[in-house]
Amino acid sequence: MSQQSSHLNLRGHVIKTLLAVQNGQSLTSVLSQHLSLVGERDRALFHELTLGTLRQWHALKAITLPLLTKPLNNETVESCLYLGLYQLLCTRIPAHAAISETVTATKQLGFEALSGVVNAILRRVSRETEEFGEALDQAHGLPSWLFKRLKKDWPEHLQVLSVELKLAAPLTLRVNERQVSREEYLDILDEEGIDAHPCEWSDVGIILDQSVHIPHLPGFEEGGFSVQDEHAQLCATLLPNLDDKIVIDACAAPGGKTAHILECYRPKKLYAVDHDTKRLSRVSENLERLALNQYAPVEILTADATVWSAPEQADCIILDAPCSAIGVVRRHPDIRLLRQSTDIQQTVELQKQILNHMWQQLKVGGSMLYITCSILKAENEHQMIDFFNTHTDAQEIKLNVNWGIEQIHGRQLLPQQGHGDGFYYCLIQKI
Ligand SMILES: C[S@@+](CC[C@H](N)C(=O)[O-])C[C@H]1O[C@@H](n2cnc3c(N)ncnc32)[C@H](O)[C@@H]1O
Repeated sequence: MSQQSSHLNLRGHVIKTLLAVQNGQSLTSVLSQHLSLVGERDRALFHELTLGTLRQWHALKAITLPLLTKPLNNETVESCLYLGLYQLLCTRIPAHAAISETVTATKQLGFEALSGVVNAILRRVSRETEEFGEALDQAHGLPSWLFKRLKKDWPEHLQVLSVELKLAAPLTLRVNERQVSREEYLDILDEEGIDAHPCEWSDVGIILDQSVHIPHLPGFEEGGFSVQDEHAQLCATLLPNLDDKIVIDACAAPGGKTAHILECYRPKKLYAVDHDTKRLSRVSENLERLALNQYAPVEILTADATVWSAPEQADCIILDAPCSAIGVVRRHPDIRLLRQSTDIQQTVELQKQILNHMWQQLKVGGSMLYITCSILKAENEHQMIDFFNTHTDAQEIKLNVNWGIEQIHGRQLLPQQGHGDGFYYCLIQKI
């Protein structure tokens, strides 16, 4: 790849990354490979163009269709066009630079003959940015299967939701209260000249108002904070007191919630389980950096939560289930292209299996917190209706909070501009 890619300009590298996602690879799996070919000072722009184009992908597609006299049938040229349009309509990059760099990349990638079409479309749009900008804003920008589902699940929120999902999410920290309070850390950031403000719902959360390189923030190496979405930080606030309790984090990797538990409590024993060994290694790394191992004996285990038998029954189980992740598409915009409607039923089935099996690992009187970062009712409210219908020993503990939308069971948080992602929480007690 490097030989073929060495002659590419920055847009060429972005297009290659977009192409990999179009071909089914996750952004995380290809990003570092492509970033390594981009010069240090171009990396921020590379990120912005790649993530931004993916966020607007379906909206860009919608406004491009009327401009084509016949279907393109060429994924590379499709990526070139959307990247060009994204620069013209969503960034301050001067039009002449956006067009010439993108057309050059189209040629570098071997599509000299089609570069004329790319050039013509981009020039036309650059002359009519206002009209095309409006059309882009009005396009819901969701794959049609997802649009239909969200329309069914959230008819009254649909319009706002589709706009919210196209925006970038804020960069949010969770301070490690074992080391520093939120107020102290806000002062430290202020002294360093870094703009930030406290989160609204999480009392350990901080939103950064400017882009930063995380490892360069004060206290990173010492474990003063983690990067975590505000709505994900609410998990620890919903749990009962876990001091001296047996706790299982059933889908723990990469350990965001495991670490938060240890920042708040001293369990008698904490099992952090996940079936993905590679992701699980990040749990140990995180606990080490945050210096949290001293607060409980922690056992980190590679195991399948649909069959794993806990060595002892738990007082509390945190089940942050594998899900469609539609609630976090702002941070992972490749999900828009990768997720298919047929995946949802399979995911719901897996969640059901994990729920059923982990329920057996819970003591009578114990509680389980079911979590997803999805906004689809099939994985959340409907999953819980089914669970309560099939488990007569389960009783919901209503969450006494003032955030989110109350559901028949549990509460749903939708992604919100400047705030957290889409999360669902339901607390269940075994009776
Ligand atoms: C939403 S993520 C967990 C995030 C984590 N709780 C955190 O806060 O950092 C879901 C996890 O479930 C894991 N998973 C999926 N299927 C599983 C299974 N059958 N058994 C155990 N873990 C599974 C995935 O590897 C993934 O790490």
